[in-house]
Amino acid sequence: MIEYIFSRRSIRNYIDKEIPNKDIELILKSAMYAPSAMNLQPWHFIVFDNKEIFQRLISAIPHAEMIKGADKCILVCGDSIKEKNESWLIQNCSASIQNILLSAEALVIGSCWIAIHGMDEIVSNVKKEFSLPSEIIPIALISLGYPNEVITAEDRYDLGKIHFNGW
Ligand SMILES: Cc1cc2nc3c(=O)[nH]c(=O)nc-3n(C[C@H](O)[C@H](O)[C@H](O)COP(=O)(O)O)c2cc1C
Repeated sequence: MIEYIFSRRSIRNYIDKEIPNKDIELILKSAMYAPSAMNLQPWHFIVFDNKEIFQRLISAIPHAEMIKGADKCILVCGDSIKEKNESWLIQNCSASIQNILLSAEALVIGSCWIAIHGMDEIVSNVKKEFSLPSEIIPIALISLGYPNEVITAEDRYDLGKIHFNGW
């Protein structure tokens, strides 16, 4: 598993090949195995696999144009009734997103985390376009597809960022 952490890169170009449902299921399962505060698991996942709906996603999230070539996308959402602390809601969903990215890497599927939360207008576009219940907060969109680009691993190990026993 540790090698997937070091090899994973964001992939934004994809070949035209379908991801089997069993792999999508595995990716979603991995998302639900993430840690969450008090084990509340306050996440929901909307799977998009239809190019016409991709167009609606792009109209709500203009910087998500690159999903055009993706095979599927997963919208990761947080339930703000289940987890009332917004910071924890985002941290929980982010942990599940990281699991999605890493399990995709393990399955040789390219992925990219596309920001939604933190951009109020985009959050409200997505909520409106997909009629999300008021308590459901879209956190990020993850694009998935077999890579049509090779992005090599980079060395990010930085001793200057490690502190022992205090700053
Ligand atoms: C919170 C967050 C938001 C991001 N939003 C976007 C985005 O909107 N569009 C995009 O192309 N990449 C996005 N990324 C991917 C980053 O650009 C990418 O992770 C970073 O450049 C490091 O490259 P790597 O993923 O290949 O290691 C996002 C990543 C994170 C963690």
